[in-house]
Amino acid sequence: MDRVGLIGYGHMGSMLVNGFLTSGILSTDELVVATKSLESRNACAAAWPGVGIARTNAELARQCRTIIIAVRPQEMATVLNEILPVMDGDEHIVSLAAGISLKDLESVFPGSLTRAIPTITSTVGQGTTLVCHGRQVDINSALRVEGLFSSLGNVVLVSEEELPAAMLLSSCGPGLLAVIIDELAGATARASGLPKDRAIGLTMEMVAATAAYLRETGRRPGEMIEEVATGGGVTEAGVRKLRERLPGVFDETIISMLERCNTVGAWSGRRTDF
Ligand SMILES: NC(=O)c1ccc[n+]([C@@H]2O[C@H](COP(=O)([O-])OP(=O)(O)OC[C@H]3O[C@@H](n4cnc5c(N)ncnc54)[C@H](OP(=O)(O)O)[C@@H]3O)[C@@H](O)[C@H]2O)c1
Repeated sequence: MDRVGLIGYGHMGSMLVNGFLTSGILSTDELVVATKSLESRNACAAAWPGVGIARTNAELARQCRTIIIAVRPQEMATVLNEILPVMDGDEHIVSLAAGISLKDLESVFPGSLTRAIPTITSTVGQGTTLVCHGRQVDINSALRVEGLFSSLGNVVLVSEEELPAAMLLSSCGPGLLAVIIDELAGATARASGLPKDRAIGLTMEMVAATAAYLRETGRRPGEMIEEVATGGGVTEAGVRKLRERLPGVFDETIISMLERCNTVGAWSGRRTDF
């Protein structure tokens, strides 16, 4: 059986297990999980009876042809050092690690490699997983991985050059938007006395409705602003203030995040004694 192996049962790993199994794209006997701590292994076994739990990453690699690695970038070299010696070479490795390039990964594993960047919002079945296949990935393996991530929401294929910018929006974006929701609600609460929880509730509904409006009408944001920011009105006063200050703030934010993308992998390229 072509079992799928998942290394790492943190935010992303547990979300993938949940998505793969609740969507029915995998059954419990088609999935094997390995993770560092006994605590996380027990949590996975308790949440998903029937899922294979491997005691080591190498044990997982011996059983699976598709191996998804959902550990932090700084742990990637350790994990590869553990699994590569027991692999045949015809496996398909899928890395979730932000900032570690296909070239870096190919330097230690010259076989089938894919980078996938999911988003925390896939926990509720919405959001985009970015997928970038390496040169060695055949069509069946590519479709298999795309199918797995489709069970969590949208899949968008991107080139590796596009990946950092696309990731800022689809994967880091929910964190940025959460800051905006928090600040907008916080400022409203501070200025008006509206309880912050109520302000957050109203803001969240408004954000979801605005996205739905733009998506369903096909309007561009600029067109929508023209519709709501009538001359001399309250919205127009707010829009003018934000247009003065936000471009600078967002330029700085995006530049610093792109710089961070280049260092977050901090890939040592260690090829040890295997
Ligand atoms: N969070 C996001 O929104 C997001 C979005 C896109 C991509 N990513 C990428 O996804 C990856 C995982 O992120 P995350 O947020 O899920 O991190 P996380 O919550 O810290 O989870 C990391 C997991 O890796 C496990 N682990 C650490 N070292 C290991 C080892 N040597 N062998 C096996 N398992 C090991 C940990 O195990 P224990 O629990 O057992 O200690 C933990 O379950 C990262 O590379 C990140 O760049 C994250």
